[in-house]
Amino acid sequence: MSKPVANRVRPVPAQGLISNRESERADLVVVANRLPVQHSSSNGSEGWRPSPGGLVSALTAVLQSRNGLWIGWSGTSEHQDAPLTFEGIRLKAVNFSKAEFDDFYLGFSNATLWPLYHDAIRAPTFHRAWWQTYSNINMRYAIAAAESVAPGGSVWIHDYQLQLVPQMLRQLRPDVRIGFFLHIPFPPIELFMQLPWRREILAGLLGSDLIGFQVRQAASNFSRMARRQSSATGTDSSLDFHGRVIRVGAFPISVDCEQIVALANDPTIRARAREIRKDLGDPELVLLGVDRLDYTKGIQQRIKAVSELFQDGSLSADKHIMVQVAVPSRETDAHYDLERHSLEQIVSEVNGEHGLVGRPTINYLHQNLPFEELVALYLAADIMIVTPFRDGMNLVAKEYVMCRTDLTGRLVLSEFAGAAAELGGAFMVNPHDLEGIKEAIRLAIIVGPKEEKDRMSRMRRKIVRRNVYDWAESFLAALQQTGS
Ligand code: G6P
Repeated sequence: MSKPVANRVRPVPAQGLISNRESERADLVVVANRLPVQHSSSNGSEGWRPSPGGLVSALTAVLQSRNGLWIGWSGTSEHQDAPLTFEGIRLKAVNFSKAEFDDFYLGFSNATLWPLYHDAIRAPTFHRAWWQTYSNINMRYAIAAAESVAPGGSVWIHDYQLQLVPQMLRQLRPDVRIGFFLHIPFPPIELFMQLPWRREILAGLLGSDLIGFQVRQAASNFSRMARRQSSATGTDSSLDFHGRVIRVGAFPISVDCEQIVALANDPTIRARAREIRKDLGDPELVLLGVDRLDYTKGIQQRIKAVSELFQDGSLSADKHIMVQVAVPSRETDAHYDLERHSLEQIVSEVNGEHGLVGRPTINYLHQNLPFEELVALYLAADIMIVTPFRDGMNLVAKEYVMCRTDLTGRLVLSEFAGAAAELGGAFMVNPHDLEGIKEAIRLAIIVGPKEEKDRMSRMRRKIVRRNVYDWAESFLAALQQTGS
């Protein structure tokens, strides 16, 4: 028989437990599930490398300018020797055992919250033991933050894995400013209500001074939910809870525009883009998909749409080709394993039916490519297809647009990606509507050069207005204004 499990947050330890010397504490602490470094053993050499992506660069930059420290998991239970510094900022690793990894990461974070917050595309699993471990691990992060932040400092907590940390930290350190940013969608009330621990999660988040979401809809879902399921009162942008004011708002994340433009203009990467097209057999048209291999991304649906376009003659194997990059992700989770197998089956069926000798219709890569290679692919692609069923933002769409410095290129984009709110120049699709995806791709194929350019420049203008550094600074500026 399994042990009885309490479904309450563990009582917090007394403040006296916080022992770090004040002089060593940081003015700004970032708390994220992962550290900005990851252990890797590729190309015959083992070691810690910076995690890729604009988010890491932007958060590292704000920490560098503010005597900052980053708390996170090393990403492995084997190598617990994560470095103590990274590009001039201090790091503090939170470690989990294998059993905690199973319950906290694979379980509550990625089999309960992830599907629930993404429109329940897969049925979320509710498991009391997972919840208990989620609370325990959140407490571990909260204690690490409480020990690290200077008196009156600020703590910026990230994402769905750590939603209890704000309240836990507030109890430990009522003197600090607490910001929380959710990178994924916040679900509508009807879905969130399924969560047996919905009140605890809301109370956890309401420990913050500022709660940021990718889009206004998510902020409003949260505020409505908080008014309904807790004693919070107020509006979508400001809640009163236990005598405190909590600001709620949309802070759409972006990409490192300057870095992407520099790479896109780099002659070596441009040459690589030409080489990719040549390797693909110099087709008239290259379609591209780049996603983490995740069931929320709608990859199979997109491949089906492309396959039907080959079937009905809108595309033809001697002139057109699709490249699909599926970045390996959460591979020990059964849903992800299944998704990979069904996707690979579909890809092979389509290639079997429509491909030519030496020329598959779908060039499929299940690989983690260096960012330079992705930029070369973005440059090589005439049409980028991004069709998640639900996505907090989707930075791939923004990366593609930023690469297209010559204003060519067409984006087919799901209206259920946060990016759709900003990228009105895309060919918008409902990712559940196969005919709609086909029609959008057809339109993207035949669009004239003037409209192509107009659409692309509209999208680029929107993105360059706020890059990922502006995003981080604007969140921190809003956090600074709270409680004053
Ligand atoms: C999404 C989440 C992040 C997460 C990333 C990769 O973007 O919002 O919090 O880190 O996916 O997933 P992983 O489970 O590998 O950290």
